[in-house]
Amino acid sequence: MSLTPDQPSKSGAMTPGGIATELSKLDLPAPSGLRLSLPDKQNSKLKLNSTSPSSERGEGEGGPISAISSAISSVFSPISTQTDDTGDISGPEPEALTAARRKARSESVSEQLSTTLAEMKLPQPERIFGPNEPENNSPDMGNTKQGVNDDDWAKIKLDDDTPEAVKEPKRMTHSRHTSRADAALPNKQPTIKETHEPSGSSTPNVAKEQKVTPFDVEGEVDAEGKDLGIDYDKLTKRFGASLISQDVLDRFERLTGQKPHPLLRRGTFYSHRDFNLILDRYEKGQPFYLYTGRGPSSDSMHMGHLIPFMFTAYLQRVFNVPLVIQLTDDEKYLLERDVKKQAEIMKKIKGKKPIDLLRHYKKMGQDNVKDIIACGFIPEKTFIFSDLAHVGGAFYENVVLMAKTITQSQSRNVFGFTDSDNVGMFHFAAVQATPSFSNSFPQIFGTRDDVPALIPCAIDQDPYFLLTRDAADRLGYKKPALLHSKFLPALQGAGTKMSASKENTAIFMTDDSKKIAKKIKSHAFSGGGATQEEHQKNGGDPDVDIAYQYLSFFEEDDSRMVKLAQEYRAGTLSTSEMKAACIDKIQEVVAEFQKNRAAVTDENLAYFQDSTRKIDPRPRAKESAEAAVPASAA
Ligand code: TYM
Repeated sequence: MSLTPDQPSKSGAMTPGGIATELSKLDLPAPSGLRLSLPDKQNSKLKLNSTSPSSERGEGEGGPISAISSAISSVFSPISTQTDDTGDISGPEPEALTAARRKARSESVSEQLSTTLAEMKLPQPERIFGPNEPENNSPDMGNTKQGVNDDDWAKIKLDDDTPEAVKEPKRMTHSRHTSRADAALPNKQPTIKETHEPSGSSTPNVAKEQKVTPFDVEGEVDAEGKDLGIDYDKLTKRFGASLISQDVLDRFERLTGQKPHPLLRRGTFYSHRDFNLILDRYEKGQPFYLYTGRGPSSDSMHMGHLIPFMFTAYLQRVFNVPLVIQLTDDEKYLLERDVKKQAEIMKKIKGKKPIDLLRHYKKMGQDNVKDIIACGFIPEKTFIFSDLAHVGGAFYENVVLMAKTITQSQSRNVFGFTDSDNVGMFHFAAVQATPSFSNSFPQIFGTRDDVPALIPCAIDQDPYFLLTRDAADRLGYKKPALLHSKFLPALQGAGTKMSASKENTAIFMTDDSKKIAKKIKSHAFSGGGATQEEHQKNGGDPDVDIAYQYLSFFEEDDSRMVKLAQEYRAGTLSTSEMKAACIDKIQEVVAEFQKNRAAVTDENLAYFQDSTRKIDPRPRAKESAEAAVPASAA
């Protein structure tokens, strides 16, 4: 059966005709604040209300499209009528006055229009929830039914929703310094200071403070120049996050029925923001999603990058929720300050213009997508996207909203940018923030903006999300929750993290077994004694021993880890034995990864990156979560 223009569709969505009817019912008053004397007859004609005959509103023969355009032109017709005929003003009006009057009127009308539109219950777009839309599943990527209808989705209600002040906006304002949400919220001020503050309290024996930003990671150094590594507790305190307590781990296990991943129970993921709220949602069967990302700075990821992806894949299986993965190919182009390095790349890729370099980052991103897919995400619940390929539409709307909340001086404060940094770097924070808001992904969440994200990442990415959380309140969106990890250290020691641009600091996912063994044997910092005798006499320190540290990231067996640490401390396990154990484990992990990556096809790449593919946002039913809790944990 075909539908007439203003009948609701099968899914309950409003049709253009229905919207036009609603628009035509708006009782929009004439613009205020204009000192014009208009003839009465004309004035009465300008006032739109539901009792006006449709012919007077210009509605009629033309069907829904002309109904909408006539509704819209009716809304604006008062302006043009009045502008053309100003009643008792004789002679041409000064241009500035005309412009000011136009502006005042259009603001007044648009305020009323958007308030009324906001109150209308507009439907989810048909494209996303349309009942008859064909599935777009790749045959080899699982065939789970995707998409939810309006009714099901609306049932998943949240009880800690939008702040009251945002639900009832007081008044729109067009002031340069306040947004609509700003005006509505009691606390209009961003909580991030605009003035620069020294980073954390300094410790007496620290000569050089640690530096952790998304672009630089350097540990503390003492007066003698000794590397003290990164003081993670201090970092968490400075960023205002919380340490993951045993209580949180116990609750996670109780709710999910899963033993926390080794990376959680050994404290690699050690800090969080609002993870408890995510667990609350999981418990109540309320929706949330996972978000993580990668900035393609090399065509292969290193083992450090693998950490958040491995962990996110685990969380996705445990929670069974959607996941979005952002490839910030734009970021890596913008943020590379090393001109010489970029010139070398240009030479290597035989690039002629800057766009060749930009596309090089985009291409590296695509190579990285294969690495990411190899980590084992649930295909039908995962969307991977490159900024350069994807940004637009609903996503870009949020980029713009977000960008308006960040000032230059906050960026300086949070990221350490200077006056000579390009404006793209300042703006990029808005792009990385945007996937934290659910309405950036209409193919998953429709227009819902109340589904929070959980972001697993290393602590270096936190500054982006500090800004995001600060802005979320002001935009009337949900704050993302975070799980922060420590860094897989560089081979040279715990003072810094592996770097993709320094070959010998890192083990790359493309390294073969021989290369892995060579790198660990010759570069891995040892916590053992200087000589064999000394080691046997005094023992070694596994806490600074890189081979032991790497093992603790990848070895599942807790009892093996305890045994290795005890024997090392006792001096009965030598440095070369510890390194041999590490080499075996890393070779095993990398070989498994390489096998998975080799199986990733171009179709898989296209499937994961298809932005038109619908993804079911519904959480797993609460009953099945309860059933998963083992009797011992209940
Ligand atoms: P990128 O490509 O520098 O790093 C990707 C992810 O790996 C983490 N990471 C590490 N984790 C443990 N040990 C290490 N040595 C190590 N080095 C890097 C990073 O914290 C990150 O989680 N701007 C981001 C891309 C991005 C993103 C996100 C990351 C966009 N949106 C959301 C996390 C969450 C970047 O360049 O990551």
